[in-house]
Amino acid sequence: MKEKIESLLTQAQELKAETAAELEALKVKYLGRKGIVQELFQDFKNVPPEEKRETGQKLNELKESIQNSLNALKERLESKTTQSNATNDLTLPVDFSDFGARHPLSIVRNQICAIFGNIGYTIAEGPEIEDDWHNFTALNFPLEHPARDMQDTFFIEKDPDIALRTHTSSVQIRMMERNKPPIRSIFPGRVYRNEAISARAHCLFHQVEGLYIDHNVSFADLKQTLYYFAKEMFSSDTKIRLRPSYFPFTEPSAEMDISCNICGGKGCNICKGSGWVEILGCGMVDPNVLENCGIDSAKYTGFAFGMGIERVTMLKYQINDLRLFFENDVRFLKQFEAV
Ligand code: DAH
Repeated sequence: MKEKIESLLTQAQELKAETAAELEALKVKYLGRKGIVQELFQDFKNVPPEEKRETGQKLNELKESIQNSLNALKERLESKTTQSNATNDLTLPVDFSDFGARHPLSIVRNQICAIFGNIGYTIAEGPEIEDDWHNFTALNFPLEHPARDMQDTFFIEKDPDIALRTHTSSVQIRMMERNKPPIRSIFPGRVYRNEAISARAHCLFHQVEGLYIDHNVSFADLKQTLYYFAKEMFSSDTKIRLRPSYFPFTEPSAEMDISCNICGGKGCNICKGSGWVEILGCGMVDPNVLENCGIDSAKYTGFAFGMGIERVTMLKYQINDLRLFFENDVRFLKQFEAV
């Protein structure tokens, strides 16, 4: 009996089953009620008493070993079937994962870039961490001039020369320093101001700056360019109006309103009953600014404009709280069509 058990122990290591049916047959053959192991247990009563202990242990060992082999075979078969199921039918639908949506500010920025791109404007970007020269001084903000207070600036504590740019007008300077006219570009980007966060103000927002420098650029060119932009951005019946204003880097300066795109100019709560909404600042580049950048103001003139992307987006989609742009609530973000 001992030899029989020994040979069965080696067999137990070599069991093979390719299908569930083969596995079941092995189970019946070895561990079934009338199987080999059960038979041995029956014969156990015939084992001489002095061998009982050792043979009993071997018998238990054999049962356990067969059981382990069968378990291992079962596991192998199961993993084989799941694997082959996964590759068998490539047309099975997969778990659907949701697509994201483009951020409304990106949609509008891309639209602005496309509208100016169509009339020959290139796109450039500048750094968000800026020095005093590019953000203020070269733009004709004299040192200690109160106009610097128009923009609440985040300065770097250790170096008052370095700040987060308060507007994208700084990129005008970088462009003019490095390129000779004609220059016709827009500069989209992020800007920062030290303001309390509310529905109408944020410490972070986005602007697009525009600049056109060449021989004989006139205020009429500025007006016509902005009129084209307003019609493309909002609707073909949009009207514009320019109000005199002040910026240190343009002379003359103006602010531009568009006829309210919500009520069509009749007056509503968005335009506070006036029929007009302000969307940008603009003007003829001040000769001092041209000279600061090494451009001969006797030969060249130009215009510049700057608009807030949030403002345009709020008007276009009738959004009444600036904070929504930065909270990234997917229920808000999913409402906008990507272009
Ligand atoms: N930089 C101005 C601001 O942030 C906007 C602006 C006004 C830009 C007039 C211009 C301009 O280029 O000509 O408020």
